Amino acid sequence: MSKIKVAIVGVGNCASSLVQGLTYYRTGDESAYAGLMHQQIGAWGPTDIEVVAAFDIDRRKVGQPLESAIFARPNCAAVFRSSLPISGVTVQMGPVLDGIADHMDEYPDDEAFRVADEAPVDIAEALRESGAEVLVCYLPVGSDGAVKHYAQACLDAGVGMVNCVPVFIASDPEWAQKFEAAGIPIIGDDIKSQVGATIVHRQLTRLFGDRGVSLDRTYQLNTGGNTDFLNMLQQTRLKSKKKSKTQSVNSQLDVPMTRDTIHIGPSDYVPWQKDNKVAFIRMEGRGFGNVPLELELRLSVQDSPNSAGVVIDAIRCVKVGLERGSAGVLEAPSAYYMKSPPVQMRDSVARDLNEAFIAADAVERRADTAPAFPARIPADGPKVALILAAGEGSRLFPGASLPKPLVPVDGMPLGERVIATLREALGIERFVIATGHEEDMVQSFFRSVAKRNGIDSLTFVGTDAWHQGNGVSALAAAGALADENFLLSMCDHLYEPGLVRALTASPPPERGMTLAVDGNKESIPDLDDVMKVTLDGERIGKISKSLDPWDVADTGVMYCTPGLFEGLRAAQADERYGLADGLAHLASSGLATVSDVTGHWWLDVDTPTALRQAEAHVRQRLRKSA
Ligand SMILES: NC(=O)c1ccc[n+]([C@@H]2O[C@H](COP(=O)([O-])OP(=O)(O)OC[C@H]3O[C@@H](n4cnc5c(N)ncnc54)[C@H](O)[C@@H]3O)[C@@H](O)[C@H]2O)c1
Repeated sequence: MSKIKVAIVGVGNCASSLVQGLTYYRTGDESAYAGLMHQQIGAWGPTDIEVVAAFDIDRRKVGQPLESAIFARPNCAAVFRSSLPISGVTVQMGPVLDGIADHMDEYPDDEAFRVADEAPVDIAEALRESGAEVLVCYLPVGSDGAVKHYAQACLDAGVGMVNCVPVFIASDPEWAQKFEAAGIPIIGDDIKSQVGATIVHRQLTRLFGDRGVSLDRTYQLNTGGNTDFLNMLQQTRLKSKKKSKTQSVNSQLDVPMTRDTIHIGPSDYVPWQKDNKVAFIRMEGRGFGNVPLELELRLSVQDSPNSAGVVIDAIRCVKVGLERGSAGVLEAPSAYYMKSPPVQMRDSVARDLNEAFIAADAVERRADTAPAFPARIPADGPKVALILAAGEGSRLFPGASLPKPLVPVDGMPLGERVIATLREALGIERFVIATGHEEDMVQSFFRSVAKRNGIDSLTFVGTDAWHQGNGVSALAAAGALADENFLLSMCDHLYEPGLVRALTASPPPERGMTLAVDGNKESIPDLDDVMKVTLDGERIGKISKSLDPWDVADTGVMYCTPGLFEGLRAAQADERYGLADGLAHLASSGLATVSDVTGHWWLDVDTPTALRQAEAHVRQRLRKSA
């Protein structure tokens, strides 16, 4: 197995911990894997990483072998592996740009950066020569110009990137698009340490929210004595760090806190602390009966090793992305490993999605979404789809907080699969999405799906009363879909493209709708839970889960006119809030017809068993199209 070839930019304390770790874990002894988040990612263990190039600007590091440079001043990270093999890598001079803060001059040599008197190398050229596959960016906070210079070099040399710095590259749409266009994966921005102040503060913030305690005020003050903290004494360089840390915590709240109630940031440089970072977190809230509650926490860590294990994961994820041909931001690893990813998620959700990313078969993901045959897109079919994505999905992942549309099916979330199928089957490029449960997270998820798939038209609709029934969520789309026919799909039903093509082959009755139905009861895994339909010719007679006898099953996909909303309004006037109640109302006026799609595969992904069946189907389909 060949190793992952890595280039390091900034041979400071974090680089020191990373390089030491690559040897430390090379014992082959399983018990020595303590301290790692994953032993294996893809085909790679923690030490299947080889540094092939390193760049810095400090005269005590440039020109030195990497294994010496990592111990040179002003580095002060813990030495947990002093004897390192000869790397054969000499630290090369990079362009200084905005890497060095002016105030460094006022501090002793032992504590501050000192620029080497050397000409910088051409970074893209050096990357190409080294054969690097992944670049790890460890530049000082505030080095906007320098980070962008190295990001551009990655694009020029075709190298993936792990951006550990709070300079927004992965989370900047323009830069993210550049990586996507170049076909290069990136994970960013601003590494989230293993158990650091950010993740602890995020978890506590969620805890307050989940337990119904309102958080009124909070701060996180951090002190340290390494060059990272010295550099951050300059307030102008600190802006993005503060923003990154504050947003990271704020993202865990349903209603973000305002500037005057949240204060998070590096707070002082205490030279004798060296690489020991101490975080003081205070949280003031109100619990039951509006009674005050306070929490004070002190966290003391060695700053640099605390992030190195996370970087060892991120490097391997970029390599997995390279192998799969993934382009642009790797969202799940970015959300899990970084403070400022493009899409913020709860850490539990990010962890589930990241596990799915790691576990997914090493297949070219786009091969899965691409049409298996040239799409025969009907010219007169619906041009817009309404996706109902408001529900909780408690049966699917009991006890877990992952909203249904985000649940991965063989590495691709359910919501994304539904969109991919509708695009493939009907060429639909406009989507109206009804959200409710975990509204912010679900909306930001769909926005990122739209972004990476080049979908321009995404409209969110919703109502606070979504939990009354899916008919309430559907009715919330009435304003957005008043004038045209549309395809309606549940976000948790998977189906093959042929099913929707069969459904839309003939238009629904005027002011009515047509439901795709399946007459093969043998093929339905959960007969108790399926929505059952009796037929009156081609019309729906009755529709309910409790019918006995019944003729056909509701597949969760329908072709509707705006007349659907009249049926829903009438049903809700009778205090019946399900989508099926609206259909029943239309059926009573003869306005609900069916289209027989028997023989086309579909599945209501509502339970862990159904999830496994869906994964098996997707894999089988992939094998067939391979
Ligand atoms: N737990 C953590 O340590 C942690 C967590 C999150 C983010 N980060 C971020 O990671 C980055 C690295 O942290 P660190 O502790 O290793 O910092 P550091 O100060 O120890 O190292 C920075 C290195 O960059 C070099 N450098 C400066 N300008 C350069 C340029 N133009 N080209 C090449 N090299 C240049 C310096 O000489 C130094 O060796 C920082 O931005 C930090 O905020 C660290």
